[in-house]
Amino acid sequence: MDEAPSVYVTRLIPRAGLDLLRGCARVKVWEGELPPPRDVLVEELKTVDGALTLLTDSIDAELMDSAPRLRAVSNYAIGYDNIDVQAATERGIMVCHTPGVLTDTTADFAFTLMASVGRRVVEAVQYVRDGKWKTWGPMLCLGHDLYGATLGLIGLGRIGGAVAKRATGFDMRLLYHDLNRQPILEKELGLTYADLDTVLRESDFISLHTPLTNETHHMIGAEQFEKMKHTAVLVNTSRGQVVDQAALYDALASGKIAGAGLDVTDPEPIDPNDPLLDLENCVIVPHIASASVAARTLMATMAAENLVAALQGRMPRNPVNPEALDVKGLR
Ligand code: DGY
Repeated sequence: MDEAPSVYVTRLIPRAGLDLLRGCARVKVWEGELPPPRDVLVEELKTVDGALTLLTDSIDAELMDSAPRLRAVSNYAIGYDNIDVQAATERGIMVCHTPGVLTDTTADFAFTLMASVGRRVVEAVQYVRDGKWKTWGPMLCLGHDLYGATLGLIGLGRIGGAVAKRATGFDMRLLYHDLNRQPILEKELGLTYADLDTVLRESDFISLHTPLTNETHHMIGAEQFEKMKHTAVLVNTSRGQVVDQAALYDALASGKIAGAGLDVTDPEPIDPNDPLLDLENCVIVPHIASASVAARTLMATMAAENLVAALQGRMPRNPVNPEALDVKGLR
């Protein structure tokens, strides 16, 4: 009888996913709070058939070359910029990810950040904690309304679309920019397609929903901040590298824009001495947009199911590179 495939999981994930894997494979889990160091990852992947990885694990060509049995890498994330997909395809390694199950959770959180920054919630909480609240004040913590404001979405994939849907409940005017137009969504949600400059110039809130690619790296920098309204709020729940963080600091510190809410930074974690952390108009949280119990559980089962399918020679539900099959065929 064939031996069950062996799998390495690079962090403790919700139990539902681990149970599913354990039913079909021999599973080893890295239980550290921090990601496995590079040398550990190299050593562990040398002997396994599959890996369930996180966005904090860099899975590159060198690593794949030292993992002769590796047939599938299932990322516990929708983003997969931590994996060299081309190198994986060339080596017949199937890469999978977890789209869909975190869409609404992440869209909720993009709104949470917009409201937190626009209405200065974090500053206000600190004000109370510092014992500064003496009376109701007509000018105290004045912020910017979401209702009726113009929301500019940069990237209109699943999550951008879900943010747009929520925005209709706030009577927001909706602009978007993407490589692809979405005529059905435009009609359904009243979205207007515009070039990037128009989105930057006309939006009160700008929310980023692009994957990280060579094209989107530092897509929002000094030139783009220059075009935004002084009252604009930028929210990033995509990847930190989409924004030039030094330029963001200048824009926030000089009042070129009103505020920013960052779920993601460059690097992660952000250096505790980063000057952005001193700015009251910048809210930074530790990459938690998908961090609900439900979403993380669904991500775990989806990542596990994808990995099991690939290792059993079936096409997984969420392959990034289905063409990997043509290279070697699933063994
Ligand atoms: C992803 O899935 O890519 C998010 O950044 C984390 O959930």
